[in-house]
Amino acid sequence: MLDAVDAVRESAPLRLLDLAGGTGTISLRALRRFPDAELTLVDLDPALLALAVASLGDRATIVTADLKQPDWHTTLPHRGYDAVLTATALHWLPADRLSTLYAELRDLLRPGGLLVNADYMPEDTLPELTKRLLARAEQRRAARYAAGATLSWSQWWDQAAQDPTLRPLVEQRHVIYPSGHSPEWNPPASWHLNALTEAGFREVGTLWRGGADAAVVALR
Ligand SMILES: C[S@@+](CC[C@H](N)C(=O)[O-])C[C@H]1O[C@@H](n2cnc3c(N)ncnc32)[C@H](O)[C@@H]1O
Repeated sequence: MLDAVDAVRESAPLRLLDLAGGTGTISLRALRRFPDAELTLVDLDPALLALAVASLGDRATIVTADLKQPDWHTTLPHRGYDAVLTATALHWLPADRLSTLYAELRDLLRPGGLLVNADYMPEDTLPELTKRLLARAEQRRAARYAAGATLSWSQWWDQAAQDPTLRPLVEQRHVIYPSGHSPEWNPPASWHLNALTEAGFREVGTLWRGGADAAVVALR
């Protein structure tokens, strides 16, 4: 993802949008690689945004916005971003909203800027292998949970709710995302490539693949 940003980098300042950035994992890595970058992080979750504020401080502009709303981008500090980066997030949006969002993101980029979306997006020509890869990945994940090597999604949220600072924010989050998680919609990578082409990007393709996960890229 960051190699692609570097490849299209032109004059300073480098402006990056970390979309549905959660705690700021992409922003932190981007700042390690590009210390002078102007980062904007957008998300809706008050608990994750509090962690993002704590770890990023004044090194990023943090914006609370709901990507399901068509006016979500009106509070962004910039237009003409060099790159929009997003990971494990856009499967929270339904198909029609994501198609429209892709067009909105194109408009937020400068000509020559790029969008990278990394997420669970299987290769639809590999159904049997994908099933087997997922089964193995699930076994490895279950072993890590059983060994206490990492927290599961629900264990992480339970732990966050025990923290006195985060507890009220986690309660707010349960109101925003009543099911704990938005409905998931996981089309194959080919769906994303078609939607990005229809959104008007001039180059579209797969930047990276690891098992059933992939990063698709689109150049304005
Ligand atoms: C699994 S997290 C990924 C966070 C970050 N990109 C990362 O890789 O660490 C998914 C993120 O999408 C955000 N999200 C989901 N629906 C959203 C929406 N409608 N508007 C803004 N953010 C949303 C969630 O709040 C959450 O922070």
